[in-house]
Order: sequence, then structure tokens, then C-alpha cells
Amino acid sequence: MKQDLSDKRKDYSQNFINFSNLPENPLELFYNWYEVATESALIAEPYAMSLSTIGEDGFPRTRIVLLRELSQEGLVFYTNYESQKGKAIEKNKNVCLSFFWDKLEQQIILKGTIEKIDESKSDDYFHKRPVESQIGALVSQQSNIIGMDEDLDEKVKKLSKEWEGKVVPRPENWGGYLVKPVEIEFWQGRPSRLHDRVRYQLASSGTWKKERLAP
Ligand SMILES: Cc1cc2nc3c(=O)[nH]c(=O)nc-3n(C[C@H](O)[C@H](O)[C@H](O)COP(=O)(O)O)c2cc1C
Repeated sequence: MKQDLSDKRKDYSQNFINFSNLPENPLELFYNWYEVATESALIAEPYAMSLSTIGEDGFPRTRIVLLRELSQEGLVFYTNYESQKGKAIEKNKNVCLSFFWDKLEQQIILKGTIEKIDESKSDDYFHKRPVESQIGALVSQQSNIIGMDEDLDEKVKKLSKEWEGKVVPRPENWGGYLVKPVEIEFWQGRPSRLHDRVRYQLASSGTWKKERLAP
């Protein structure tokens, strides 16, 4: 099996970064870009982001998770604390998030430190989810090995009956994480591969330093 992809390329020309008019805080820029991505309706799930963690084996591992809250504090997503990512995070709190909004020719890469959010906040979000998703979280020991013939739908049906009309408890191993950024890079595709990039880094004083990077 072989595929030659060497002639597959696209020229980027939709937008540019105005380096003379950048906000001091990168979360403001993130918010502006995110709003455009949402309003344009060009991106099916602008809140889908890749999360990279470093595993105990020393390898990075990347997977998609959904951004559920954005604030001055950082970015929140929800998952199983005992999944592969949960175990990796236990050992190493340095993570990377990235967004690729293809139709806008934009990429954002965010490095940060991660921590669990308050249990009460996880409870609130858990109970806001559709009840099927709540039951799903009870049923799935995320990232554990399961039998090829394991019938998850059957388990969901059984538990749905058991919990009918009652409040489904949030499993202790399910909840939110907050990623607090220390560096955010914004990338805007430009013609002839001369893309625009700006990187913000958090200084010890708590202020952000911004620098333009060569494409
Ligand atoms: C579009 C999309 C959204 C997803 N959202 C989440 C999410 O918010 N939380 C989550 O735990 N997994 C989510 N997943 C599944 C993860 O990518 C991954 O398979 C799962 O979390 C197990 O990862 P791990 O074994 O590395 O811990 C999503 C997958 C896709 C493709």
C-alpha cells in the first residue's frame, strides 16, 4: 500500500494577524478567535481540542476532548480521572492543548498546567448532561481493556431502569480538569507558507510577554 501525497497542498489567504494591535492577554485573543469560529458556523465543533499528555512510558499521547468552559482562569474539560489521560496527568501536570480550525486556516497551541476542578462544579456539569450520558459514565471504565463481546448497551439499559426517576450519582472517578495556560501560540495561515505566528508566554510577574515567530 502506497500513496503519493506530495502534490496535496492548499494556499492559505483568508486572514492575517495584526501584530500592531494585539491584546495584552492571550485569553482575550483566544476568545475573539473562538467567537469567530463559532459564529462563522464553518467549524462543526470549534470546542473540540486535542489534549496531549506525557505517559509513564515517556511517550506523549494526544486525543480529542471537548472544551466545556473558557474563563480568565483557563480551559475546562471533563473526563474519567482513571483513564489513560487521568493516569498520565497524575504523574505529570504539564499538558498541551491544540485547536485546528481548518476553514479559518487557524491553529492555536496552548501549554499549561492541569488540576482537577471542585467536585461541586463537576457534580453540576454531570447533572446537566443528558441522562444517557450520565449512565454511560457509570458504565464505562474509560480506557480499561474490555471483552470483544462485552455488551455495553445492555448494561446501559439495565442501569437506566435501575436509576429511572432518580438522580444518577456522579462517579467519583469522573470530573473536570482545568488547564491553566503558561504559553499560547496563535497561527494564521498565509500565502506562500509565510504564515503569521504570535506566541504569548506567562512571566513570573504574572504578565504576558508576546513575540512574533518566524513561519
Ligand atoms: C469529537 C470527540 C470529542 C471527545 N470528547 C471527549 C471528552 O470531552 N472527554 C473524554 O474523556 N473523551 C472525549 N473523547 C474521547 C477521547 O478522544 C478518548 O478516546 C478518551 O478520552 C480516552 O482517552 P485516553 O485513553 O487517552 O484517556 C472525544 C473524542 C472525540 C473524537
